[in-house]
Amino acid sequence: MMKRAKSKPEPLPAPTPGGPRHVAIIMDGNGRWATQRGRPRLFGHHAGAKRVREIVEACPDVGVEYLTIFAFSTENWKRTQVEVAGLMSLFRRYITKETRSLSEFGVRVRFIGDRVRLDDKLIKLMNELEEATTHNTRVHLTIAINYGGRDEVARATKRLAQDVAKGVLDPEQVDEETLPRYLDTYVLPDPDLVIRTSGEARISNFLLWQSAYAEYEFIDTLWPDFTREEFGGLCASYGGRDRRFGAVKT
Ligand code: FPP
Repeated sequence: MMKRAKSKPEPLPAPTPGGPRHVAIIMDGNGRWATQRGRPRLFGHHAGAKRVREIVEACPDVGVEYLTIFAFSTENWKRTQVEVAGLMSLFRRYITKETRSLSEFGVRVRFIGDRVRLDDKLIKLMNELEEATTHNTRVHLTIAINYGGRDEVARATKRLAQDVAKGVLDPEQVDEETLPRYLDTYVLPDPDLVIRTSGEARISNFLLWQSAYAEYEFIDTLWPDFTREEFGGLCASYGGRDRRFGAVKT
């Protein structure tokens, strides 16, 4: 593997007009990256966590205001107890270690997903990080933990049904504008570009409702090898795409 330069990174090309405002990433390939090196899977997750900072910090350079990353899915509980516990511990350490630099860089952090299965210490750290960065506006980073698109829609529907039962919402009002207000992402714009690393061409239950009109990039790079240059290149090529949202261009 090429050694990464420690000095200040080279500036990326200026944002392409019409580039993506919101990029969502399925950070896949940590396990294979570690296996290729004869190391345990958690070694790959630690390497993957380091990539997050580089990509967050590249966002303003390429004109990305919102970055949403898939850190742990509702299906990831099926992994071994060692891997699940290791990932939870990594999330706790990441939040503790990165709070200051994320804040100083102007990142507003939000978490999406169902918190009920997460341990109290992690939930506390997540709440504190959201609170500590609440006034930042430079980059909106959303981290999906215990997140599944179907689970999110089911939870949203439950809350919506509760509002109907309480008489707060008229069923006649339920439409494409109303339902997303109950999703975890209610304050975020829809993603323009979804990137999945590691050569798998699946969306794996990520932002199902929100990505209806997103562009997709499935790339072979394993997440721990993903660089700001590759990120910049994908954002630049997005700028040249012709999105019609189902309409015919006149
Ligand atoms: C998928 O790779 C990756 C995960 C399930 C975990 C993602 C977590 C990180 C990138 C690190 C932590 C993130 C934060 C925000 C601190 P995989 O394990 O499925 O890889 P494989 O397909 O090669 O086995």
